[in-house]
Amino acid sequence: MEILIENASKTIRGAEVLKDVNLRLTGGTIYGLRGPNGSGKTMLLRLMAGLIRPTAGRVLLDGKELGKELDFPPSLGMLLENPAFLPEYTGLRNLILLAQIQNRVGASEARQALLDVGLEPDDRRAYRKYSLGMKQRLGIAAAILDKPEMLLLDEPTNALDAAGSALIEDLIRRERDRGALVVVASHDGAFLERLAEEIYTVTEGRVAK
Ligand SMILES: Nc1ncnc2c1ncn2[C@@H]1O[C@H](COP(=O)(O)OP(=O)(O)OP(=O)(O)O)[C@@H](O)[C@H]1O
Ligand SMILES: [Mg+2]
Repeated sequence: MEILIENASKTIRGAEVLKDVNLRLTGGTIYGLRGPNGSGKTMLLRLMAGLIRPTAGRVLLDGKELGKELDFPPSLGMLLENPAFLPEYTGLRNLILLAQIQNRVGASEARQALLDVGLEPDDRRAYRKYSLGMKQRLGIAAAILDKPEMLLLDEPTNALDAAGSALIEDLIRRERDRGALVVVASHDGAFLERLAEEIYTVTEGRVAK
């Protein structure tokens, strides 16, 4: 697939948080986004996901304009900064519920997604008892659950230990290898250098290579 961002700007309450962004991203590639706190990385991911609309310019997914021909990306997996799950349910139960909403995958894919991120599918603990890193892993599992064409990951290595980071690195490469378009925002420059084929720097809402 292809994401085309044309002259996109976003103004929120008088502040221009994205400024004339032009990008063309294609499937089977890992893209990195780096930049200081508040530079606009998360906003750019939200723009690609159709969670915010540009105040100027447009976003096209395979030639279809988000907000016009498409409400949301048809095949999207996303890890946000604070993934939300039902606190009283186990990780597996949470993923199965998500799978049922999308109606594309079932319990066996949910179990596999947990294994992929290093969580035990039969762990009986409720989500509220998860450690920070376990919560992050579950967020990544939810993002890859139904093998999306477009995978947007905001700070995927947050709260992960070294083994967890290495596992997620492999997982992201596998997603790329099956053809997904992957965008990863991260403060971990070394992580992005190892992983991304193209890295963009976001500075005060401007995006440059
Ligand atoms: N809900 C909001 N309403 C208004 N402005 C916002 C909102 N969320 C973020 N912003 C502003 O948008 C700008 C970009 O924020 P964004 O979250 O994209 O930064 P970031 O690059 O992801 O930072 P970080 O590295 O801390 O995650 C910042 O100036 C921020 O204050
Ligand atoms: Mg952010």
